[in-house]
Amino acid sequence: MPSGTYHFPKGFLWGTATASHQVEGNNTNNNWYRWEQEGHTKHKAGLACDWWGGRWREDFDRAAEGGQNAHRFSVEWSRIQPTPDTWDEEAIEKYRAMLRGLHERGITPMVTLHHFTDPLWLYDSCGWEREDIVALFEKFVRKIVGALKEYVNLWCTINEPNVYAFGGYLLGDFPACSKGLKPTMKVMANMIRAHAAAYHAIHQIQPEARVGYALHFRPMVARNPWSPLDRLMRNIRYNGFNMGFPSALSTGVMRSPIGNVNIPEAKGTQDYLGLNYYSADTVWFDIKKSRELFSNSGFPKDADMSDTKFIANIPEGLYNTIKWAVYKYPDLPLIVSENGVEDADDHLRPRYIAQHLHQVWRAVNFNWPVRGYFHWSLVDNFEWERGWTQRFGLWGLDIETQKRIKRPSVDFYAAICKENGISSEMIQKYCPEVFDKLFPS
Ligand code: BGC
Repeated sequence: MPSGTYHFPKGFLWGTATASHQVEGNNTNNNWYRWEQEGHTKHKAGLACDWWGGRWREDFDRAAEGGQNAHRFSVEWSRIQPTPDTWDEEAIEKYRAMLRGLHERGITPMVTLHHFTDPLWLYDSCGWEREDIVALFEKFVRKIVGALKEYVNLWCTINEPNVYAFGGYLLGDFPACSKGLKPTMKVMANMIRAHAAAYHAIHQIQPEARVGYALHFRPMVARNPWSPLDRLMRNIRYNGFNMGFPSALSTGVMRSPIGNVNIPEAKGTQDYLGLNYYSADTVWFDIKKSRELFSNSGFPKDADMSDTKFIANIPEGLYNTIKWAVYKYPDLPLIVSENGVEDADDHLRPRYIAQHLHQVWRAVNFNWPVRGYFHWSLVDNFEWERGWTQRFGLWGLDIETQKRIKRPSVDFYAAICKENGISSEMIQKYCPEVFDKLFPS
């Protein structure tokens, strides 16, 4: 039986990723809280993982014991700036304490400034549709970056702007002020402008900072490659969803299915690219799906599916995502800023991790500049419109008692982080069913 280890480069960042509303608990001043109270979600976030109550300490201990040397979390705008004219210095102090907590444990922080949630004052005035959002976001960014810069130099301006815009303004799954393709693309354009303003502001405050954003990238194929309609739908979806931000940051023009938009100030505003990859889509023409511009999507029939059929385990998609990024931006450092699967009993997660990391290894083996991998997530957390129905944590969470439950993936991921590689012994122990795929004889 073959044996060996897939090694990663020295200094590779091994971490997990989380987001404020999903872990903090008691966030009552943002649009998601309102959306939950209005009954649009399966459950309410409630206490979440109670990080605001101090349980970040025990979870950061778990990350450190698990050999993680990096952690990505987000700050909650609605806490920091509860009204347009006030700053909550106590909230800022809590984030400073969390960052000190990471450093004390030898963990490098990566901080996201916007992860899906908006303060109610912003949401109620349809903030992301208005032009002054750029100045408002910049004001917030200047304040928080000034306050935290002592502890952070890896910043992620906006998490998955494409999911925020499409999930809310087109699909209506997320809170949004209005609906339709026009407002969706308007919000995307404003997010690009706000990102660009934040990029320049952060560099002014902290010249050595590394600033980027996290793109949710979906590789897509036409279900029937011979069908011009399936191919057309695949292209519209692919360009609309994936390419808005990347096109603007490389050329200063945002590509959009309803007309391109010039945003020259966005050109070149990234020091790295964060890639959030979960799965890949098969796309086809569907006359019944007017809301989605007559396109529909799914997974291959024989796919290795997650618990709630939300994610198909398609590891080559991560390789293709990285390859796309390398060809689009040669030399730009890349970070896999999210990757994971919902799997309450952990039957799929070990092989999902192993197979995806094997694809990352293929990429670094070509010397492609992938600098780190952040698994989503450290502990089960509040999954937006899907509430608590999906369990993405290495650690499970009992929401009644706040008890953390250890899944086998905890030890598997810890072994990988500590080894800075994946060995044949690990695969044999945690996911022998894919041994032949990773170590063919
Ligand atoms: C988001 C996370 C979310 C994860 C799993 C990503 O799109 O950034 O907030 O929890 O997907 O659904």
